[in-house]
Amino acid sequence: MSENENTFSGGLSVHEIKSNIEQHLAALLQNCDGKTAVGMAMQESVLGQGKRIRPLMMLLIAHDLGYAGEKKTLLDLACAVEMIHSASLILDDIPCMDNADMRRGKPTIHKKYGESVAILAAIGLLTRAFALVSSTSGLSGEQKALAVSELANAVGEQGLVLGQFRDLAGVGQNQDINDITATNELKTGVLFIAMLQVIGLTSHASEATRQRLSAFATDFGQLFQLLDDLSDSHYTTGKDRNKDAGKPTLVNVMGRDHVCDRVYHHFHSANEHLDAIGVAGQETRRFIHALLTLALAGEKPAMKIA
Ligand code: IPE
Ligand code: IPE
Ligand code: MG
Ligand code: MG
Ligand code: MG
Repeated sequence: MSENENTFSGGLSVHEIKSNIEQHLAALLQNCDGKTAVGMAMQESVLGQGKRIRPLMMLLIAHDLGYAGEKKTLLDLACAVEMIHSASLILDDIPCMDNADMRRGKPTIHKKYGESVAILAAIGLLTRAFALVSSTSGLSGEQKALAVSELANAVGEQGLVLGQFRDLAGVGQNQDINDITATNELKTGVLFIAMLQVIGLTSHASEATRQRLSAFATDFGQLFQLLDDLSDSHYTTGKDRNKDAGKPTLVNVMGRDHVCDRVYHHFHSANEHLDAIGVAGQETRRFIHALLTLALAGEKPAMKIA
């Protein structure tokens, strides 16, 4: 990303925002008792080398929407979502799920600490995340209750939990494109949708803008899971390679070329939703463009994403 593709309010670059997020995460988890394995597992899983796409996107969208509240409130909300996401990764990796050995460039939490600690650390992180949202300063009681409810619905048995169940139950089944797309929305998209509703709420966005944010997040969630599936064979993800072999992913069902076309479609649709939000969307648009350029480098040279 060039300098001017990187700017944020107050002149902060994406790199600097990421570093703000990581400092805030470290401070929030400082009081995790470092002497117990569960506390250490919670810290290590969150503070590992994540891309921080979700908290970054929350801060960029808030900026695009003209958020005028406290920065700390935003950082609390963004870090709560990163804790939820980290918990989902710990659980996704355990042997009865994807049985992964590597995550964020290091041995997975259950490999290092054992399965019981991994499960407890995931529960610990989920609980901390909701406690954080419900106790952050700068929001009214009603706003906090709505934010907790949005995120809880996204995680629960109608959201990410259902997506993960469908993902695992789909192995060995004859899954069509619609089945897989629905699973991808649940396991990945719903958290993007909920976190942007939380940002819409805290930025006092209109109902029409919040609907557009939801449509944008739906496209972005699909796009993001497809990029993840495309990267399954790459060396640079910090995860085990070829973990999706034999899984009903769209890459396995349709092939890489068609998946790239779908990514392209979701990218354009996501941008249209940003356009409809009005003057907003510039920081977010640059960020997604840079993400895609990087992720699709060498994938489909003719693809035009500008
Ligand atoms: C991986 O998420 C799981 C998916 C939903 C695709 P990320 O690709 O955001 O993982 P980190 O946070 O960078 O490790
Ligand atoms: C991730 O799907 C969905 C989650 C919510 C964890 P994957 O199983 O493809 O994620 P990775 O590739 O292990 O990060
Ligand atoms: Mg999985
Ligand atoms: Mg996995
Ligand atoms: Mg994957």
